[in-house]
Parts: sequence; C-alpha cells; structure tokens
Amino acid sequence: MVFPDIIIAIDGWSSTGKSSFAKLIASEFSFLYLDSGALYRAVTLFAMEKGFIAGDEIDEKSLKEELDKGLDLHFEYVDEGSRTFIADRCVEEEIRTLGVSNHVSPIAAIPFVRAFVDEKLHGFGRKGKVVMDGRDIGTAVFPDAQVKIFLTASPQIRAQRRFDELKMKGQDPKMEDVVKNLEERDYIDSHRETNPLRRAADAFVLDNSHMTIKEEVEWVRGLIQGKFGILE
Ligand code: DC
Repeated sequence: MVFPDIIIAIDGWSSTGKSSFAKLIASEFSFLYLDSGALYRAVTLFAMEKGFIAGDEIDEKSLKEELDKGLDLHFEYVDEGSRTFIADRCVEEEIRTLGVSNHVSPIAAIPFVRAFVDEKLHGFGRKGKVVMDGRDIGTAVFPDAQVKIFLTASPQIRAQRRFDELKMKGQDPKMEDVVKNLEERDYIDSHRETNPLRRAADAFVLDNSHMTIKEEVEWVRGLIQGKFGILE
C-alpha cells in the first residue's frame, strides 16, 4: 500500500499509548515520527537543571530569557526510534522519569513555552508523511492534518501501562504516585487556557483499552484506505 503525503495527528489522554502507536505507524508506513511531548519534557528537564523550578514555583522570566536565546532541541533517528537531544546531549531517558512527569504539565501550560515548541514542530513537520502525537496536534498545531485520531483508554489500564513502563525502565514507582500523576496531568492538560487537550471535531476516537497495538495500526490502515480510496 502506497501512502499519500499526509500528516497523521494523534492526540489523547496521558498513557493511552500514543507514542507507541505513533512509532509503529511510522515504521510500518515509512512516516517520520515526531513526539511533541518529548519537547515539553526536554524544556522541563532543562528548567529543572537550571534551577528554574522550586516546588510549585516556576521562574518564568528566566526560562523565557533562555528560550529566547535559542535552545537547540531536536530528534535523532536510530533503529529503535527517535531520540531527543538538547544540543549534543541525548536526554531520552531523563525526560521519561517521574520527576520530569511531575513538572511537565505546568511547564506545558505556559504560553511562551507552547509557542516555542509549536515553532519547532512546524519546522519538523514540513517534511510531509509525518505522524505526530501530543495533546493539541489536531486542534492547534496541525488543524489541517488529513487524519486525526483521539486516543482514549480506561484510567485503570492507563495507570497500569505507565506503571509497567516505569518498571521496565528500572524505576521503582508506587502505583498511587502513578495514579496521582496521571490524574493531575489529565486535569492540567485539559483545563489550561492555551490549547487545552480536547478532541478535534473531525478526529476519530479510538478506545484502545482492549486492543493490541498491532490491531490499532490495522485500524488506522483501514481508516486511511477508506478515506483515500486505496484498494490494496
Ligand atoms: O505525551 P507525554 O506524556 O510525553 O507529554 C508530556 C506532557 O506534555 C503532557 O503532560 C502534556 C504536555 N503536552 C502538551 O501539552 N501538548 C502536546 N502537544 C504534547 C504534550
């Protein structure tokens, strides 16, 4: 099956498996994968390391000054997928810790941070045949994306997935902390003023609570075939 040059926008709640889904689409359909959450996580890690976050307080002025100077965030692609870099340092592991997860939603709610990340995403997305996942891709970043998917799954299943993911990475999370983090992020992500998480009116909803990722990819293949009239 030859895929058209389209943007596939995947949005949804935390830990619905957006990135695993998007990565498999990218490898099966030969698309470029862009993980927008990784950029918010990298800005958060940067702010933490610079000492701009103390408890619930964020030193927005200093963070803005640094972003205005230009922070080199980019992806490098290897066989296993994309790796997130701050300048020449790979931060792929560090941005996935619970420490970063605990601060990322307030950072992602800051309008100048969103503008900074959006500009990067637009630059990366110019290449065509792109699959991008996040919270506002179909509503704000690429409102003209030809295929929009909104992922959802039950809260229990999402918490278990995040728990297993952290364990697999050698971390030692407590289930109650994982549940609390998910609830807080869902709330902040869907209630912030700038581009909150919501389903685009023209997005297809996929509840993957009881689906394998292979089934999800077959579902989207069928969706694209139907939409673009591809027969084989
Ligand atoms: O998908 P993720 O868990 O890696 O995303 C991390 C955080 O970044 C998430 O809590 C919300 C924010 N985010 C966002 O606000 N907009 C996006 N397009 C992607 C992520």
